[in-house]
Amino acid sequence: MTPIQTEVPQRRGTPQDSDGTPVISVRKLWKVFGPKAEMVPQSGELCSLTRRELMERTGCTAAVRDVSFEVSPGEVFVVMGLSGSGKSTLVRCLTRLIEPTAGEIVFEGEDIRGADARRLRDLRRKKFSMVFQHFGLLPHRRVVDNVAFGLEIRGMGRAERTRRAMEVVELVGLAGYENSYPDQLSGGMQQRVGLARALAGDPDVLFFDEPFSALDPLIRRDMQSEVIRLHHEVGKTMVFITHDLSEALKLGDRILIMRDGMMVQCGTGDELVGAPADDYVRDFVKDVPRGDVLTLRWIMRPAQPDDDLDGPELGPDVVVREATRAVLAAEKPVKVVEDGKLLGIVGDEEILSVVAGQTGGA
Ligand SMILES: Nc1ncnc2c1ncn2[C@@H]1O[C@H](COP(=O)(O)OP(=O)(O)OP(=O)(O)O)[C@@H](O)[C@H]1O
Ligand SMILES: [Mg+2]
Repeated sequence: MTPIQTEVPQRRGTPQDSDGTPVISVRKLWKVFGPKAEMVPQSGELCSLTRRELMERTGCTAAVRDVSFEVSPGEVFVVMGLSGSGKSTLVRCLTRLIEPTAGEIVFEGEDIRGADARRLRDLRRKKFSMVFQHFGLLPHRRVVDNVAFGLEIRGMGRAERTRRAMEVVELVGLAGYENSYPDQLSGGMQQRVGLARALAGDPDVLFFDEPFSALDPLIRRDMQSEVIRLHHEVGKTMVFITHDLSEALKLGDRILIMRDGMMVQCGTGDELVGAPADDYVRDFVKDVPRGDVLTLRWIMRPAQPDDDLDGPELGPDVVVREATRAVLAAEKPVKVVEDGKLLGIVGDEEILSVVAGQTGGA
């Protein structure tokens, strides 16, 4: 039986696709604000306190607590959590805009915490770019000169930097506006200038700190699609902060969920929805249409001796919504097959329990 043809959304640059060398590797990272901050990560007793207890005992805020993760080349890595959970602090530590208190940050094999001021400046100019919620555009410079600003700082000549700036202005869909001033543009367009500016220097990693949260929902959706399109075109590694789950699911290959400075769970969207680590994550994902996120892997059941195994085949990573029509149309249960191996079967019942929202998380 030939597999059914369905459109399987391609995950981009997930860890399995890469050669295994992460772009960014973070180990046991801490950022503590306050007096004698460096004492906190060293003390088992202080480490075990809640944020509030720590504040009461020491006057310190542990904004990031013992966080470890890796970002693969080409991956879109999303950091999510409620306000105050430590997202901005974490991401700023990665480029040392905020000085970490303890832990290890390795970028392309280089220990970032050991970098001197000069090296850091170099990294920030050439390897990292940041896009913030507030666009930070220079009001008296035209779009093209805003975009070229970083290149100018690097010492690139006028003709070359203008050529490069025009290239990225075009890439973000702003051709025709290159001579406008920022205040002549809408919020969404200003954020496109921010994006173009971040891309101009051809960085290895783009960091986004809630870049679209000030935009109205329609423009916001446009900009999310824009990031996805750009990611397809330029394939950059991206670290993206948001507190909007739908944005996280739309953009992220993997999502790190933070709470009170700690990492609660790190995984793909279907892992968070299919197996939330605790009530905090469960609460985050409770309104997600499960059929849009879960794959057949999550809903299949083991084949029993009396099951009819003559049905059609689908892969385990097909999203339930994409498989619904095929499963309901088939006379027999659909076999979930990977590398020629039967993993399980999916029938109308499994599909309907998800589509009707009746399947509880693990
Ligand atoms: N410079 C600072 N001095 C002291 N405390 C700080 C400082 N910066 C951040 N914090 C504290 O660290 C914690 C984490 O803040 P952070 O800004 O990283 O959270 P966030 O997840 O980005 O929140 P939001 O969604 O509101 O942007 C908060 O309790 C905050 O008050
Ligand atoms: Mg923040």
